[in-house]
Amino acid sequence: MMAQNRVCACVEPLVNISPVSTSPLPSQRALFDIPDHIAYFNCAYMSPLLLTSVAAGIKGLQAKAAPWSITPPDFFSTVEKLRGVAASLFNATENDLAIIPSASYGLAVAAKNLLVKPGQHIVVLAEQYPSNFYVWKELAAQNGAHLHTVPRPANNDWTSAVVNAINAQTAIAALPHCHWTDGTLVDLAVVRRALDQVDGALVVDLTQSLGALTFDAQVIRPDFAVAAGYKWLLGPYSTGLLYIAPQHQQGVPLEFGPFSRLDAVKFSELVNYRDEFAPGARRFDVGEKANFALLPVLLNGLQQILSWEISRIEATLCRTTSAIAERAKELGLEVVEPHQRAGHFLGLRFPQGLPANIGERLAQHQIYVSIRGDSLRVTPYLYNTDRDIDRFLGTLQKILR
Ligand SMILES: Cc1ncc(COP(=O)(O)O)c(C=O)c1O
Repeated sequence: MMAQNRVCACVEPLVNISPVSTSPLPSQRALFDIPDHIAYFNCAYMSPLLLTSVAAGIKGLQAKAAPWSITPPDFFSTVEKLRGVAASLFNATENDLAIIPSASYGLAVAAKNLLVKPGQHIVVLAEQYPSNFYVWKELAAQNGAHLHTVPRPANNDWTSAVVNAINAQTAIAALPHCHWTDGTLVDLAVVRRALDQVDGALVVDLTQSLGALTFDAQVIRPDFAVAAGYKWLLGPYSTGLLYIAPQHQQGVPLEFGPFSRLDAVKFSELVNYRDEFAPGARRFDVGEKANFALLPVLLNGLQQILSWEISRIEATLCRTTSAIAERAKELGLEVVEPHQRAGHFLGLRFPQGLPANIGERLAQHQIYVSIRGDSLRVTPYLYNTDRDIDRFLGTLQKILR
């Protein structure tokens, strides 16, 4: 089964649904504070912050240093702006978005609001990120259900493997858009259609894709979709986004703080308890959502991403990973076929096994990647240069000699 065609655009021509631009972006390194000698291919671990984001964070901290300048509407203005900007990333409305501190928080909201009956199962991928695993293990155990872990397919076709795992007993499929170890794709639209046949729910963890891989909530129709903010969304740690489909927006939140209720901006009236929640997905917002230091940082990152355009980010990163993949193959390494991986991700596998301490040895040369399972994970961003690529491949060649 073919993965979605909006991937690795430099290799697979897009079927143009709308007039999106895939022209590559020039280097954006000057927008970050990255010394020349650092070759950072580890955006999937944690993105660096834009210089403008750091400034936005400092401004937020300074506001808290002078609390007399903070008024009740300030507790909502950045949050609501962020909600609107974030909605564009999902192709959703601002009413569909909640502000959360982590992917695990959003997944806990999803688990609290989905029904699993005894004997049913929840589908996950082998070696899926723990935040999108433990919560379902727990939910299954609480309800006499079980987890169905789809083994890694030898041909990298997760989509067929997941579809084959879906049957009348499937309550939920909790999946990523691309696997966090090597970027192998799941065609979520195909999985959604398979779940429709059995009335199953779809929960997606977009932490390793949103911002770098187009996602469309209208096409994929997830019940819940989460993304931690500190990787491809260029945000700080402890921020995240949760999309909640309209049919779940009357559900039960994890917390019952004051600011999720209607008209909470009238602080003097907070003692007059209200039963009504704020509209849409707002009831699921984390407590103290008006995080004055962190939210402006995430907001600034998202605004920059939208101004670059995700389709262009996707196409640019795909070129970078493809250039690395070609040279890695010449060194005898194995890479997933371009149409089976997300354009911004590369997992390099070594036929003889991972060289000892390869991550540390590269880091000694100021080249940063991650080891995840048996994969050397290479995740570039718009700040990477040809010089970075040359240094990485040159050093790798020396290590392999
Ligand atoms: C796929 C995926 N999901 C989620 C996370 C982060 O989860 P949390 O925000 O719960 O710490 C990561 C971090 O590496 C990840 O790779």
